[in-house]
Amino acid sequence: MHITSFFLAIGLASALDNGLARTPQLGWDTWNSFGCSLNATVILETAQKITSLGFKDLGYNYVVMDDCWSAGRNSSGYLVPNSQKFPNGIKDLADKIHNMGLKIGIYSSAGTMTCARYAGSLGYEEKDASLWASWGIDYLKYDNCYNQGEEGTPKLSYDRYDAMGKALNSTGRPILYSLCNWGVDGPWNFAPTIGNSWRMSGDLFNTWDRQDVNCPCAELEGLNCKTPGYHCSVLNVLGKAVYIPSKAYAGAWNDLDMLQVGNGGLTDDEAIAHFSLWAALKSPLLMTNVMTKIDAPTLSILQNTAVLAVSQDPEGSSAVRVWRYNVDGGDIQMFSGSLSGGDQVVLLLNGGSTAREMNATLTEIFWMDGVSGTASQVQSSWDVYDLWADRMSNSTADAIIQGDGKRPINMTAMGGAEKVYAQTPLPTTKALMGSKVGSVKAAGTVKAFVQPHGVAMLRLREVKSNDEL
Ligand SMILES: *[C@@H]1O[C@H](CO)[C@@H](O)[C@H](O)[C@H]1NC(C)=O
Ligand SMILES: *[C@@H]1O[C@H](CO)[C@@H](O)[C@H](O)[C@H]1NC(C)=O
Ligand SMILES: *[C@@H]1O[C@H](CO)[C@@H](O)[C@H](O)[C@H]1NC(C)=O
Ligand SMILES: *[C@@H]1O[C@H](CO)[C@@H](O)[C@H](O)[C@H]1NC(C)=O
Ligand SMILES: *[C@@H]1O[C@H](CO)[C@@H](O)[C@H](O)[C@H]1NC(C)=O
Ligand SMILES: *[C@@H]1O[C@H](CO)[C@@H](O)[C@H](O)[C@H]1NC(C)=O
Repeated sequence: MHITSFFLAIGLASALDNGLARTPQLGWDTWNSFGCSLNATVILETAQKITSLGFKDLGYNYVVMDDCWSAGRNSSGYLVPNSQKFPNGIKDLADKIHNMGLKIGIYSSAGTMTCARYAGSLGYEEKDASLWASWGIDYLKYDNCYNQGEEGTPKLSYDRYDAMGKALNSTGRPILYSLCNWGVDGPWNFAPTIGNSWRMSGDLFNTWDRQDVNCPCAELEGLNCKTPGYHCSVLNVLGKAVYIPSKAYAGAWNDLDMLQVGNGGLTDDEAIAHFSLWAALKSPLLMTNVMTKIDAPTLSILQNTAVLAVSQDPEGSSAVRVWRYNVDGGDIQMFSGSLSGGDQVVLLLNGGSTAREMNATLTEIFWMDGVSGTASQVQSSWDVYDLWADRMSNSTADAIIQGDGKRPINMTAMGGAEKVYAQTPLPTTKALMGSKVGSVKAAGTVKAFVQPHGVAMLRLREVKSNDEL
């Protein structure tokens, strides 16, 4: 038995029982690109693009309006939407989003005010949850600003977030509950029974490894971070996440924060690495780019279905960091994770500034499976698939953006994204597995050439008959 499936079995017994986020949620959120300048027009235009560009077909189904949608409370204590931004109200918007076959998310804070100082939900949990349910809301992102000092112990945080969880449940409407408390009081320990995902760090900024005084906690400190801050880089958040992968399981995910792909600030290779790592660590994947202005490289990263298949793998176990070395001035790391059907995902991360060949032995790759795993898996032969080998070309992506392109895969025609990703074993098509780039024999070594600030993302599949080698 794999250690990972052991965690999974424990997890399923105690996960929030709302049936949602059995794989990490996929979607789009207003915040990083629009901040407080959101409105119904922007959200509907984005939803149309999510549909017409094919994101919906690939499983990106939540459209989340973040902070700044409300105008305060009325005299009965109910939240009122900003009527300039939402002239027809939010129920009307929700109906339109649902008619497109998408789901709609909303935002609030477990405090007296939201982070942008609009009315918060502390003490109003039941009124707010019932109002949202009456509008047809499917998802709540619940922040941690102005919490009246009700934190500092897991119990204080738990109670504050549990109040909303109970209120959401009592509406009878399944509403995905996304806690956004920045890792304070270790939500990976207290949140799995009350929420579907929890932020484990301060806000992710669109930087690769930039140090920023606003993001004071790093690496191990992240486990007990009192001031999580914001402007955290990709490598900063990753460095904190590596200590808690076993806390993630179906219905309960570590949220490494929304994607910064397509927002500038990251090179193409950095954006690929960011997306690959977030997928393999089973973070929710919420895009935040301006969809009406998406460019070809951004579309081809976000629509890499071989990577999305790792994110949406039915086993739902996070990859772990097996090693990290400093070689030739480069910070290199190796991540490995088990996938359904006995497949394994391997990421070789080159944090250095020169391209290099990297390698990982099967013993390292199956390190988490322990002594018994080592005996069987290390002694097997494996086919190696490169999940980025068949990245959509820029011209194909451009044609899709122009509205006359043919997408490489139509998941709707195959029964829907959920069904496609759940296939075990996953079919060895280019769209789902990339290209086979080699094989590795028993006790062998996997090698890949990796760009600076880039990853090689590989999927290993056991060779059942020896004559294939
Ligand atoms: C909606 O928001 C967008 C982006 O901030 C803005 O350009 C547009 O003028 C707004 N439209 C309305 C009708 O408020
Ligand atoms: C306050 O808002 C709620 C929910 O929209 C509504 O049912 C109620 O009538 C409003 N109360 C007042 C005084 O406007
Ligand atoms: C509410 O919680 C109960 C018990 O965990 C669960 O069976 C039910 O599906 C939940 N309902 C909703 C709408 O989340
Ligand atoms: C694997 O990579 C390490 C670190 O770069 C290097 O020292 C070693 O020689 C490589 N091994 C093989 C078999 O390529
Ligand atoms: C697409 O264009 C970007 C930016 O110029 C480039 O980095 C990337 O390698 C291109 N993608 C492909 C598949 O050629
Ligand atoms: C994908 O398949 C569905 C169902 O067969 C079809 O309605 C849709 O037009 C197809 N989409 C594309 C882009 O071909």
